[in-house]
Amino acid sequence: MSEKPVVLSLDKATIQFGGLIAVNSVTFDLYKGDLFGLIGPNGAGKTTCFNLITGVYKPTSGSIKFNGKEVGGLAPAKIAEMGICRTFQNIRLFPALSVLENVVVGAYLRHKTSVYGAYTYLPPAINETESLKKDAMDLLEVMDLADMAGSRSADLPYGKQRRLEIARAMATKPDLILLDEPAAGMNPQEKEDLQATVRRIRDEFGKTVLLIEHDMRFVMGLCERIVVLDHGEEIAQGSPEAIRSDPKVIEAYLGEAV
Ligand SMILES: Nc1ncnc2c1ncn2[C@@H]1O[C@H](COP(=O)(O)OP(=O)(O)OP(=O)(O)O)[C@@H](O)[C@H]1O
Ligand SMILES: [Mg+2]
Repeated sequence: MSEKPVVLSLDKATIQFGGLIAVNSVTFDLYKGDLFGLIGPNGAGKTTCFNLITGVYKPTSGSIKFNGKEVGGLAPAKIAEMGICRTFQNIRLFPALSVLENVVVGAYLRHKTSVYGAYTYLPPAINETESLKKDAMDLLEVMDLADMAGSRSADLPYGKQRRLEIARAMATKPDLILLDEPAAGMNPQEKEDLQATVRRIRDEFGKTVLLIEHDMRFVMGLCERIVVLDHGEEIAQGSPEAIRSDPKVIEAYLGEAV
């Protein structure tokens, strides 16, 4: 058993949409510093799990705890403030804003000066904005996007937009970062670079990472533990080696995916 603290704990997390149980009694724990993969065929309930963890949906039953506190059913903004951030399967950037501005917007979630304070104490607000910009530039360096800080985010190639989404999520200074298909649409070199970056996010920044990905090379090469969903149910959990050779996983997913 791991000595590290549990960061995220799903206990029989379930959500039903009409007659469909999209996530059915899913149970797993993430320990601090885990690089954890969530995989399974299309429609398995992976993104819905993220939506439960981030408060987009309220679980029909079961529990979701973050750092020991129940978050199931809390408002998304509250959960984000507590330290969970995410990226989206379909990129959601502010296309007209610059690369740097997109990251600064993420950082505003942690912005300490109230809106009222921003008007009445202009100098501290300016200082804070300057420091947010500096932090944002530092993150762009980490994500290898610093040379594009002034470009409109819509003008970035697709792979870089995905990296920018991660930078923006990191700007909220989360404990836990959820990545929904971060390598989708990337070429092999971009995927390799992204693997190194995600590892860095864990090793250097101490984040816990939960990621959804269909590229098995990417997941198996990066994640240390993996949960497999199929039709909303957990069919396996374990190391990449165990998952790769699990007959249930091969039948439900890998047989067709690899
Ligand atoms: N708001 C909703 N209302 C009704 N059904 C939903 C809703 N959200 C998700 N579903 C259904 O839940 C199931 C799981 O969807 P989900 O998006 O979680 O799959 P996924 O594992 O992320 O798949 P993919 O790999 O294609 O992204 C699907 O059948 C989907 O249609
Ligand atoms: Mg999905």
